[in-house]
Amino acid sequence: MSARILVLSGSSGERSRTRSLVEAVEKALIDRNATTTHWDLRNAELPFADARFHDDPGRHPDATVREFSAAAREAHAFVLASPIYHNSFSGLLKNALDHLTIAHFQYKPVALISHGGNRSTQACDQLRVVVRGLGGVAIPTQVCTANVDYRETPEGYVLECEDILARVARLTTELAVFATALSPLRRS
Ligand SMILES: Cc1cc2nc3c(=O)[nH]c(=O)nc-3n(C[C@H](O)[C@H](O)[C@H](O)COP(=O)(O)O)c2cc1C
Repeated sequence: MSARILVLSGSSGERSRTRSLVEAVEKALIDRNATTTHWDLRNAELPFADARFHDDPGRHPDATVREFSAAAREAHAFVLASPIYHNSFSGLLKNALDHLTIAHFQYKPVALISHGGNRSTQACDQLRVVVRGLGGVAIPTQVCTANVDYRETPEGYVLECEDILARVARLTTELAVFATALSPLRRS
């Protein structure tokens, strides 16, 4: 069975290295026969999360929230991507996660990736705690990049650092293996 993976990228930047990292991760996942759906939260037009719908976002009056909730429910695994904002992950990503519940994440593996600082792990470290709160399983390998890992082109940034690309390969293999390994727990 091909793993369905929901990818959330949380940069508010127009030209974003986080987004380029996401593209490299998606390509590696597709090479491993996974299918990916990418929600670029800069353009997703999700409203602010509303606690009235916390228990069942499927009842939310906003069609984008309902679509987002359905995509998360159908996913076997997640990739959460964020730039480093104020020593943490971005508010765009937090708002998106606040639309979701434990039912969306329980026993699903989650890969954490980020860009910023000197390959700072701050966003991934904090997301690891958030994922535990959602009942998901943050996989051990994470990918954190710095500006030097990319080449700038007129079209955008290209992830070029060989060490980081090898880490992307490890992360995506791990995510696919965990997605299969955790499926009996999800079924129960
Ligand atoms: C609101 C905001 C807060 C930021 N806070 C930090 C920070 O705490 N530490 C840091 O190293 N860079 C910080 N930055 C810089 C971003 O990490 C950097 O611009 C990064 O390239 C953004 O990723 P992107 O290219 O995917 O948009 C901040 C940028 C913004 C917009």
